[in-house]
Amino acid sequence: PRVGVIVVAAGSGTRLGAGAPKAFVGLAGRTILSHALERVFSTTEPTQVIVVAPAGLEGEAEADIMQVAGDRRDLARVVTGGATRQESVANGLSALWGDVETVLVHDAARALVPAAMIDRVIDAVRETGHAIIPVMPVVDTIKRVDGSVITAAVDRSELAAAQTPQGFRRDVLLTAYQAVGGDFTDDAALMQAAGHTVLTVEGDAMGFKITTPADLQRAESLLAPSPR
Ligand code: CTP
Ligand code: MG
Repeated sequence: PRVGVIVVAAGSGTRLGAGAPKAFVGLAGRTILSHALERVFSTTEPTQVIVVAPAGLEGEAEADIMQVAGDRRDLARVVTGGATRQESVANGLSALWGDVETVLVHDAARALVPAAMIDRVIDAVRETGHAIIPVMPVVDTIKRVDGSVITAAVDRSELAAAQTPQGFRRDVLLTAYQAVGGDFTDDAALMQAAGHTVLTVEGDAMGFKITTPADLQRAESLLAPSPR
C-alpha cells in the first residue's frame, strides 16, 4: 500500500481511570482499539496499519487486529509504544515498511471516527502535499484566564478543535520527527514547529476522543441500538 496508518494505543488512560490501558478498556463488548481498527480497516483503499501498543499488551493488539481486519490482516503489524505519545508515534514510524508515501497518525482513543473521514485526510494529503488535520468548529464561548480572573474573550471564529487522523507525507514527517524535540500533544504541532504549513479538512462529530468516563458513556450510547 501507498498509505500507512499509525494507530497509537500505548497510553495508560489516567483520566479514564478504568484500571487498564485505555485502548484495551471495554466498549460495547469489545476493546476501544478494536472499534478504532474496524474503521481504519474500512477505508476505500487498503492501507498498511501499524498498531502501537503498551509493553505487554502486544498480543492483545494482535487479537484485535485478527478480530476486525478481515482480508487486510497481512497489512497490519504491532510495535511497542514509548513513554510519551511522541515516542509512540516515532516507534510506529520506524515500523512502516515498503513504498508507503502518505502516513496518517490516529489516536486509538478516537474509536468512532468514520472511515470516510480517514479517506478525506488521505485524499487531501495527496492533493495538496501538505500536512492535513481534521478540525471541528469550537462551539463554546472561550475565555482567556489568569487564575480565576478573565483576562480576555477569545474570538472563537479564530479557533478550531483538532482531531485525528492527521496526515502527512512520510518523508516530511520522518524528517520533522528527527529534527524537532520537545513534547507535542499532536503531530500537527510538531510539524508547525518544524516550519511546515498545516491545512485543515472537515472533522466529524464522531471524531471525539474518549478521555473521561463521560466520554466512554457517550460512545456506549452512540453504539447502542436505538430504542423504538
Ligand atoms: N498514546 C500513546 N503512547 C503514549 C501516550 C499516549 O500511544 N505514551 C496514545 C493513547 O493511547 C491515545 C492517544 O495517544 O490513543 C491520545 O492520548 P490520550 O488521549 O492522552 O491517552 P492516554 O495518554 O492514554 O490518556 P491519559 O492522558 O488520560 O493518561
Ligand atoms: Mg495522555
